[in-house]
Amino acid sequence: MSNPSLLILPGDGIGPEVMAEVRRIIDWFGAKRGLEFDVSEDLVGGAAYDKHGAPLHDDTMAKAQEVDAVLLGAVGGPKYDDLDFSVKPERGLLRLRKEMDLYSNLRPAQCFDALADFSSLKKDVVAGLDIMIVRELTSGVYFGEPRGIFEEGNERVGINTQRYTESEIDRVARSAFELAMRRGKKLCSMEKANVMESGILWREVVTRVGADYPEVELSHMYADAGAMQLTRWPKQFDVIVTDNLFGDLLSDLAAMLTGSLGMLPSASLGAPMANGRPKALYEPVHGSAPDIAGQGKANPIACILSFAMALRYSFDAGDEAARLEDAVNAVLADGVRTADLLGEEGVTPVSTSQMGDAILAKLD
Ligand code: NAI
Ligand code: MG
Repeated sequence: MSNPSLLILPGDGIGPEVMAEVRRIIDWFGAKRGLEFDVSEDLVGGAAYDKHGAPLHDDTMAKAQEVDAVLLGAVGGPKYDDLDFSVKPERGLLRLRKEMDLYSNLRPAQCFDALADFSSLKKDVVAGLDIMIVRELTSGVYFGEPRGIFEEGNERVGINTQRYTESEIDRVARSAFELAMRRGKKLCSMEKANVMESGILWREVVTRVGADYPEVELSHMYADAGAMQLTRWPKQFDVIVTDNLFGDLLSDLAAMLTGSLGMLPSASLGAPMANGRPKALYEPVHGSAPDIAGQGKANPIACILSFAMALRYSFDAGDEAARLEDAVNAVLADGVRTADLLGEEGVTPVSTSQMGDAILAKLD
């Protein structure tokens, strides 16, 4: 059997810097754990624009459709700010998400013990926190028609439409239940069924899908109450599934319970391919950080943890993912910090590659 395939798109700014550390970790898993990948690398964002005049070449798009998983760094930067909208770096990323039809966006909120002091919440509220928000990514109010700004009488009216079909709810719910099966077997669905018909349908379909997953304990919560519960006692949750708009807010809220942007991974999953694996794109939540690019200051952990998610969700290697996460945890417990993680007095920050060195040393 051939090795699983991985397409790496480092992108712009700190993207290539953090991805270089991920490449070393991928090599480690090949050499030490017998987990070999067929890795190819290509351009996206401004880097692709510089070479091809477009933020994603058709050949790269085709490759992304074929591989088992795509790992992306970050796109964008001031150099590209004045480009036409159609060729902006972000369009490359949006095209990937759209053409791969990545409807299920996984955003973990995980608190590493050594960083619990970083949270704006009390330490015991976040220490050990490990929850996952599944946000529907391709439908809902950001896409529904009608939309626009229209004349109505003698004033204008701005319209967006929350719209979900049963099949759209069904597929993201299934993805969330599958996740819950691999985790704590607890799923909370959030909508506003009290005031929105789309929420009534959402609740009904999620409940119906739940019948296929009797082992998963399903609960429902109104999204506004969910926001309160997330800040009051987030550890009551395991997996949360919600729509595009509420998910946008709730995933940002949950992620920041745990500290720095440099620590946050994500995954976007689509329909299962012929080999049973979902279409998948893994990327850190952060952008290209032009303010620190080229200085060796970037924290590679968000990108490294994105690769850990790939191990778990694309390559059925949950044990290996845990091995990598444990190494990150151990390095942080030793007090190793990139500049974005400095809190304590008298700590000298390490560089991007020194953080990579430390994680590799723990893996060994
Ligand atoms: P950003 O996430 O790039 O940076 C925000 C702040 O966090 C900066 O001070 C940065 O130095 C810091 N930061 C981010 N990642 C870090 C890391 N790994 N280690 C240490 N510090 C880190 O967001 P910003 O500044 O709003 O956007 C910069 C560029 O990135 C823009 O062109 C934007 O369009 C693009 N962007 C791309 C995204 C993507 O590729 N998915 C997401 C967000 C922004
Ligand atoms: Mg957001």
